[in-house]
Amino acid sequence: MSTTQPTKTILRLELPTDPRWVNIAEKNIEEILVDHAYCEQKAATSGISLIVKYPDKERLVDEMTELVAEEWSHFERVMEQLKKRGYKLGRNRPDEYVVELAKHIRKGGKRERQLMDHLLVNALIEARSCERFKLLWKNIQDEELQKFYYELMVSEAGHYVSFVKLAKEYMPADEVDARLKELLAIEADIIRSLEPRPDRMH
Ligand SMILES: [Fe+2]
Ligand SMILES: [Fe+2]
Repeated sequence: MSTTQPTKTILRLELPTDPRWVNIAEKNIEEILVDHAYCEQKAATSGISLIVKYPDKERLVDEMTELVAEEWSHFERVMEQLKKRGYKLGRNRPDEYVVELAKHIRKGGKRERQLMDHLLVNALIEARSCERFKLLWKNIQDEELQKFYYELMVSEAGHYVSFVKLAKEYMPADEVDARLKELLAIEADIIRSLEPRPDRMH
């Protein structure tokens, strides 16, 4: 795959997606759109949970309010694409990638440290989604979806940057960078351990 921005320079992901993924994804666009709709729904829900858990963190509340609105508009847009094609949302499915990653949000300790882990895990989900949108944008044949994935790639890259910045608002920058480095390695191991699936965004 290409090593140009934003996947390499901004996102710092250690392991590129298996190139087979985009081919199998395009052949299963219904499944990919359904899974994608749930990813957007979860992104919005996760922003709301952060507001509920940390109402005293003013900057966090402001930024999550904005993010939730954006993720919800992404959800609406994926729903529009589903309906246009006569597909239905259907049931939610387990998201192994997110479940594995979330196990690395440390419990206990300082509240700010937990918040940092949560924000960085969210940052990595954004980064990986962004990388996948880039692959879809560059490789998929459907022109409308190409444009859609391009716009989402840009938006999720912005979210990645915001989450990392926000973590630095509440914890020292060097600690955030060190933890991000650890989590990037963990994320690469998780990606390595999961077979590319035709019915999953991650
Ligand atoms: Fe999104
Ligand atoms: Fe996002």
